[in-house]
Amino acid sequence: MISTNDEPLHVLDLPQIYTKPSGTDLIKALALLALKPRTFGTTADVVKGPAVQPAGLTRYLTSIIASPLLWLDTEELREAVWDAAAARLSERSGRAAMPAMSRIFSVPTSSGEDYTLTLHEPSITADNLGMKTWVSSYLLSRRLHGLLESPPELVPSGPTEPSAKSDTNKQLRALELGSGTGLVGLAFAALQGKSAAVHLTDLPDIVPNLAHNVALNVELLTTTEATVTTDVLDWSVTPTPLPSALERFDVILAADPLYSPKHPKWLVDTIGVWLSRGLDARVVMEMPLRDAYLPQRQELRRRMAELGLAPIQEGEETGYDDWESAGGEALAVKCWWSIWGWSEKI
Ligand SMILES: C[S@@+](CC[C@H](N)C(=O)[O-])C[C@H]1O[C@@H](n2cnc3c(N)ncnc32)[C@H](O)[C@@H]1O
Repeated sequence: MISTNDEPLHVLDLPQIYTKPSGTDLIKALALLALKPRTFGTTADVVKGPAVQPAGLTRYLTSIIASPLLWLDTEELREAVWDAAAARLSERSGRAAMPAMSRIFSVPTSSGEDYTLTLHEPSITADNLGMKTWVSSYLLSRRLHGLLESPPELVPSGPTEPSAKSDTNKQLRALELGSGTGLVGLAFAALQGKSAAVHLTDLPDIVPNLAHNVALNVELLTTTEATVTTDVLDWSVTPTPLPSALERFDVILAADPLYSPKHPKWLVDTIGVWLSRGLDARVVMEMPLRDAYLPQRQELRRRMAELGLAPIQEGEETGYDDWESAGGEALAVKCWWSIWGWSEKI
């Protein structure tokens, strides 16, 4: 076990390959050795693990890269461990660019015990924003257990369209739009367990890494009996034929989905196509309050109202970006979270 006090660790305190440690323990240990980035957090403090004495570290990392890791469940998990070990080695070789990395996220549960998710983030490029995990998805993933515990006033379905949720034999159907690395959708799936089927979606370039991240978390998803699928869903394309009532979703999740003038229309149109007309249908969103995108947020509110959706609960909270400013401080990011339902039904 790795202690979390400030005493520098010896390399022998880390999980040793000959003990066949779990993938999660290895990735946690390798995350501890990362030189950058800082972790997301809700305080401005740089969150750092205990220092690790450098003696023997290169040999430790090489022992992981050289091991076939045959006791780990999936090839994806093995590759994530090898990638993380290789990244730690390359950081120590003074490589300027940050390599692809696997990162650990803790998701609070209602029992008080956190779930751990491992997400692979390939090197990011300007047109592949979904390769990185963004601060509003971190904040939303941490409030999901609260949403589930005290759901907004859920009312029984009306006669027009039965919702899956009101039928106890059916799983709740949830859709995430613009999942990126999948933090929100995977957290929701693990928290819901067998009571929900969660569909994670994004653009074609992003979905392979998203599917990879589902496979990376097979241990947690199996333990929690979660059902997760992934596919391409492009908001700019209207599906033909339109989905039937049974194909629509009870919950739609979206984190950080607005950063182009076209996004408010595309996003709201997509919600209109895919959201169930049931009384308890919900849209759950969180996004940074970036000044440059104020017009897009205003347009989003207007379009949601025109569609017939109204906010049931909303609020603001501050997170800290994982990349520090030039001065080395954490960058505070104010975010807006909101839960929406059909206005004539709430
Ligand atoms: C800023 S990233 C947020 C990713 C993730 N939700 C998070 O918060 O970490 C925006 C995401 O929206 C996706 N996206 C952008 N335009 C899209 C479109 N037209 N259809 C589907 N997804 C889109 C991007 O690929 C990217 O994954």
